Amino acid sequence: MCGIFGCVLRNEMAGPIIRSALERLEYRGYDSIGQATLSSGKIFVKKDKGKISEVQKTLNFDEMLGKLGLGHTRWATHGMPSKENAHPHLDCDGNIAVVHNGIIENFMELRKNLEPKHKFRSRTDSEVISHLIEDYMEEGENLEEATRLTAKRIKGSFAVAAISNQEHDKLVCIKKESPLIVGVGEEGVYCSSDMSALLPLTKNALIMEDGELGVLKIDEIKFIKIKNGESVKKEITKIEWTLSDAMKGGYPHFTIKEINEQPTSIRNTLRISPIYHELIASKLCDSERIFLIACGTSYHACIAGSYLFSKISKIDSRPVIASEFKDQYSEILNSKTAIIALSQSGETADTIEALKTVREKKASILSITNVMGSSITRFSDIYIGQNSGPEIGVAATKSFTSQLAILTKLALTMATKRNSMDEENRREIDRGLKTLPSYIEKVIERVDDKVKSIAKKYVDSESFSFLGRGINSATALEGRLKLLELTYTPSLAYPAGEVKHGFIATVESNRPAIFIAPRDDNHNKIINNIMELKSRGAKIISLIEKDDKKIIEMSDDYIEMPQMHALLTPLTYIVPLQLFAYYMAVEKDLDPDKPRHLAKSVTVE
Ligand code: M6R
Repeated sequence: MCGIFGCVLRNEMAGPIIRSALERLEYRGYDSIGQATLSSGKIFVKKDKGKISEVQKTLNFDEMLGKLGLGHTRWATHGMPSKENAHPHLDCDGNIAVVHNGIIENFMELRKNLEPKHKFRSRTDSEVISHLIEDYMEEGENLEEATRLTAKRIKGSFAVAAISNQEHDKLVCIKKESPLIVGVGEEGVYCSSDMSALLPLTKNALIMEDGELGVLKIDEIKFIKIKNGESVKKEITKIEWTLSDAMKGGYPHFTIKEINEQPTSIRNTLRISPIYHELIASKLCDSERIFLIACGTSYHACIAGSYLFSKISKIDSRPVIASEFKDQYSEILNSKTAIIALSQSGETADTIEALKTVREKKASILSITNVMGSSITRFSDIYIGQNSGPEIGVAATKSFTSQLAILTKLALTMATKRNSMDEENRREIDRGLKTLPSYIEKVIERVDDKVKSIAKKYVDSESFSFLGRGINSATALEGRLKLLELTYTPSLAYPAGEVKHGFIATVESNRPAIFIAPRDDNHNKIINNIMELKSRGAKIISLIEKDDKKIIEMSDDYIEMPQMHALLTPLTYIVPLQLFAYYMAVEKDLDPDKPRHLAKSVTVE
């Protein structure tokens, strides 16, 4: 998730206007920043790695004059944070400047075709856009048509703004699956990734839809369909939001926004080129021993991941809490060991410390993180970016499902290499993964109100227990962690089979049990566990597959989920648990975005 902004102004103030707009978009990405303006027929670019406030000190964007300009605040996906990879990207001769938010899935193939003729300066997927526009303009197309034809060539998601020194009065923008809004003000027209950047400039917005192209001139705005150039009419929408509303996309908190973003973040995660999965999968298949290490939510993804590795790839792996790793395993590491480190922030001290030991022992370090250029990516031999976009709420939500989606993909890639799963089953999981974003969309839509009412009903409960079997014992742990963090409610999480070995002694009616109980191979056993608790007076809240009459009868409250492959259930069943923790926090009047005593990134051991 990056932020883009563009403007066509009556005055020459493009530099400071873009810089202050990018400050408001910085929550969308903050590893690099850049601006381009058109002045005296030339395009000027300033860009660098770092936060806006740091880069502004050395580059002073406010000095950039011009009536036309673009800006970008980056959250790296392809290519580490660096000056070269920062946007805007230019064509070979610096006549065209482009900013992009999204992922170009076919960039490798496009780049291969463009490379013999074009000078590439970055490792990003985005740079192909400026060179494609360049080609079309060289063939005689104007900026509008060159951008439209480019949009038809690129696959994936994009919000792009482009300017050219050949057409000094306009900015062209295109949109597919990444947000883009046009603002119409007295002093200028603008395009922006979201309303937050527009707020001080105008309250009049034109919302772009997927597959549209906009041509912005100071006194004329037009929209056409990318597909066929057909004209599109739009009505002005009045922006009623405050700045903080706008940053949260209209949601009251970042946490709920991020829960709702999961369909998009998983879509972006699944867009990562399969080459990265191939590289990691090969390394894992060649290793004698595999550990998955992480802390907190990322550790829960490791637990689910190790189930996926054994069930799909038939390969043994061990999930380990990073702070325990060195103590227990340092003596058995060697060059035939592979470590997968999971970390949203890429900066968790316990995970980094564990990796230091791993490095000393010459084991391979493979990582999955959301922050490219973070310490953990720098430590790693190979890494995959989660592509979840910045996660601002302290509680990890969308990063958990992205990590798990990557681990599922890895397990499937290994299964192909090892021929470890029958093709039909493998394909079913693969198809399930692809439809996951739309499933999660439906889940959120259908269960949101129900979860809210359950949270209201149980808000005064003394504690909760989260119980699941198999891969969903990881879901139970993660559901418990969300509730702990957001509401400070003492809670337990157990593999459900373990309850009779001690836990059952704690059962009371004011301590509801939440069962994660899809209709999988463990279904009958979990029904027995539900009965064990119910007969001792526990209130039962169950997460079940639709129409599971047996469990419905035993439950005080239940949430029905769509049917899906058993191994994909943690990816969806976690969503009502995230919502439950969130609505409990709201009911208790707590700030879900900033739970007490917690930091988003734990950089001390
Ligand atoms: O950035 P990381 O994934 O390495 O962070 C690990 C934990 O600190 C983190 O998951 C923490 O438990 C979250 N607040 C959970 O919501």
